[in-house]
Amino acid sequence: MALRDHIKDNHATAEKHPFVKLLFSGGVSPRIYADYLLNQYLMYLKLETLLEQHGLLQGVESVKRSKLMLEDFHELRSNARIYDVTYEYVRYLETVSKENLMAHMYVRHFGDLFGGQLMKKVVPGSGAMYEFENRSQLIAELRSRLDDNLAEEANKVMLFAIQLFEDIANEHDIRDT
Ligand code: HEM
Repeated sequence: MALRDHIKDNHATAEKHPFVKLLFSGGVSPRIYADYLLNQYLMYLKLETLLEQHGLLQGVESVKRSKLMLEDFHELRSNARIYDVTYEYVRYLETVSKENLMAHMYVRHFGDLFGGQLMKKVVPGSGAMYEFENRSQLIAELRSRLDDNLAEEANKVMLFAIQLFEDIANEHDIRDT
């Protein structure tokens, strides 16, 4: 079974989430998108720092997204707030084993490498964070570093991702239409 099959149910929940639907509708305001970007930036910064400290990004450094997220955030010139889930996730990352850190890379960066490619056309700003050099090659190289033992941790990461959508939707009163 591929890792993708293990996260199928949570992926379907993420795709159906009202905040994600708003993003894909092209109707998200710069203010709400800035919230999303700032929180994603803080989470990715911590994750990518840990991945690098463990030498897990050797040869695949171009997958890193945090600097590009900050650029996209600055471009919006908007206020933003940090949600509790972001502090929780950053604290949680400190406790994750070297092996399981790759499950975090999988959910976050593969999300950008796949679904993100559809997102870049519809979000405010230029979407530098969705541009990858040699995307297919990068996917193949990263996939060779993954295995099914990451399934349980990958589902935990999906739940953190969905929690951020929940927090943003509650704060901005985003509901299913
Ligand atoms: C409406 C929102 C989304 C859409 C339309 C979308 C779409 C897609 C598509 C088309 C694929 C490739 C299909 C496949 O290989 O099975 C994919 C893969 C993936 N998505 Fe999403 N996605 C969305 C949201 C998310 C979110 C929020 C996350 C996680 C935070 C995520 C994580 C992933 C991962 C990890 C993969 C790689 C699966 C694999 O090939 O192993 N996606 N997504």
